Amino acid sequence: MLTNLAQQPADTLLALIKLYNDDPRPTKIDLGVGVYRTDQGDTPVFGAIKAAEKRLLETQNSKAYLGPEGDMGFVHALMPYVFGKNSAPVAAGRIGGMQAPGGTGALRLAFAMARRAGVRRFLMGTPSWPNHAQICADLGSELISFPHSTPAGVVDMDALRSTIAAAAPGGAILLHGCCHNPTGIDYSPAQWDEIAGLIAAKGLLPILDLAYQGLGEGLEEDAYGVRRVLDAVPEALVAYSCDKNFGVYRDRVGAVYVMMAEAGQLPAALSNGAALARANWSMPPDHGAAAVRIVLEDAALTRQWLDELDQMRARIHQVRASLAAAGHMGGVDLTPIGTQNGLFSIIPFTPAQIAAIRARHGVYLAGSGRINIAGLTQGNIAAFLAAVADVTTQTTAPTSVGA
Ligand SMILES: Cc1ncc(COP(=O)(O)O)c(C=O)c1O
Repeated sequence: MLTNLAQQPADTLLALIKLYNDDPRPTKIDLGVGVYRTDQGDTPVFGAIKAAEKRLLETQNSKAYLGPEGDMGFVHALMPYVFGKNSAPVAAGRIGGMQAPGGTGALRLAFAMARRAGVRRFLMGTPSWPNHAQICADLGSELISFPHSTPAGVVDMDALRSTIAAAAPGGAILLHGCCHNPTGIDYSPAQWDEIAGLIAAKGLLPILDLAYQGLGEGLEEDAYGVRRVLDAVPEALVAYSCDKNFGVYRDRVGAVYVMMAEAGQLPAALSNGAALARANWSMPPDHGAAAVRIVLEDAALTRQWLDELDQMRARIHQVRASLAAAGHMGGVDLTPIGTQNGLFSIIPFTPAQIAAIRARHGVYLAGSGRINIAGLTQGNIAAFLAAVADVTTQTTAPTSVGA
């Protein structure tokens, strides 16, 4: 029977890692994998997390099961960062949550809870992180896509407006809270204000994916959209990842939050999250979430984490500014990269240019033209820009960054 399982296409980013690893050139540059890197090219464990792990090792005296909701101390400690210290729905007891295995697990639960609630159609701007569509397809739901941004590299508000206007009642809409993956093109506060109103007027269920809080403009600024939408609607789902902003990628740390119109409706909704978790992974892995909780419950460790996050954000901004300062390269305009946010931007290379920059210069980036900004360092950015100049002047390129 198992021969009925047809060969699935390899994950293209994982295939890219292998190609990069096999390339013997010492000057090769990896802009594919979506992890933060320091100017030395490392992805180190945060000092605050190391200290918390040490404490955890010394004080944890049981590894008995916690239950499908995981570490609720972690889930609660994160809430002021996500929803704000003075959140009205939190104060009203309308928001509850549970731990999940990373942002992916949180999204899986959010999509599955929405589906259980009767949602069959999910609206989403594209391009998006590929797993959004994969989770949706795996649950048998219909995805209605619209262009997230225009070829000029700005948010395509017209597409968003017309898609919401045409949406049938009872649908959900997935929105990236900040640091849009892969374009880096985020909604402005004014655009979020409008979006919140449109979603509320249409009665859509918002699913907000907040996977990079603190890597864009700042912890508070990056939560503007989530908080604004939650203020406008009666119900919402928020999928949160700590994997990037605490650097705990492989420990799989995330949480899913549910907001209901009334506090009394929360236990029933959350019980569905618990049942779905039980049937999928029973309970989430504990270690990373426990370490994040220890950081958030300790003022000195919190300070250390915030400082480390500030350094991360400052470096991302500095690389973005250097790329933007390079201006036009052949047919490609790099200036919009300076105003985009987070780890990613898209360079509108043609497939031939992506192949050429890899073959001639050992620069590895996704087939979509997505680059990991943090893969660039003071040591390799000049070589990268020279490589961009080489491939864009020798082949015809489209016009601007961010499509
Ligand atoms: C937009 C977006 N959402 C969610 C995730 C999931 O993150 P995690 O690694 O915590 O599962 C990612 C990871 O790359 C992402 O880019």
